[in-house]
Amino acid sequence: MTIDQLTQSLAPLTLEESLQWLAQQFGPATVFSTSFGQEDQVIYDAIARQQLPIRVFTLDTGRLFPETYELMDRTRSRYPQQTFATFFPQTERVQNLVDAKGFHSFYDSVDNRKECCGIRKLEPLRRALAGATVWITGLRAEQSDARADLPQVEWDAAHQVFKFHPLLGWSYAQVTDYLQAHRVPDNPLHRRGFVSIGCQPCTRAIEPGEHPRAGRWWWEQSKKECGLHG
Ligand code: ADX
Ligand code: SF4
Repeated sequence: MTIDQLTQSLAPLTLEESLQWLAQQFGPATVFSTSFGQEDQVIYDAIARQQLPIRVFTLDTGRLFPETYELMDRTRSRYPQQTFATFFPQTERVQNLVDAKGFHSFYDSVDNRKECCGIRKLEPLRRALAGATVWITGLRAEQSDARADLPQVEWDAAHQVFKFHPLLGWSYAQVTDYLQAHRVPDNPLHRRGFVSIGCQPCTRAIEPGEHPRAGRWWWEQSKKECGLHG
């Protein structure tokens, strides 16, 4: 299937319909990555309610908030019919990093930060995406300038998969309305000023009026991405 065919097939569909269509076309070669953020919880709910054969995974960096681990368990209980796989970094690589540079090397330089994200997220992501044809994410255009111009379907040359962002055009209010309407569990940190939540040492709460991603890698001036999405 070409990217144009995929784009045209998915464009007119609702969230639920697009997930159904992908599951029908590609079965478990359709994968969804979740960090249990609000957008991800919308997609998780839509997959779980429809009991679709989409493979769901999360990357546990070992540095997540306790609230995020609790949410993972609450999500598991809320949707007993749905499973997700947890991918961990390679022990030896984490051990070598910490032995050489300590537990907080990411604050010292962008290169060090990318090294940590590489070990704790990108290498496990490569394993998680093995065999996948389509990778579903919770990206929204409003989240950042880098995401504003994304197409809803992209070809990810690095991972050799199509990426599909079903919520790309959704507003934040649409996301929270959905969560409320379907009584979807979410992270209590969202009520304490955290919008975008990643690893604990690399995420802070934002002030009212601040950019939603201002709390991610807040000490860096450069592009606030970890490499999962370019
Ligand atoms: S990040 O690149 O800055 O970390 P962000 O937190 O905005 O990404 O999340 C965007 C999308 O990336 C999520 O909807 C999810 O699909 C994926 N993602 C981010 N972090 C993880 C994670 N730890 N495990 C699985 N997927 C993730
Ligand atoms: Fe490491 Fe921070 Fe990247 Fe998490 S976000 S993998 S702790 S540098």
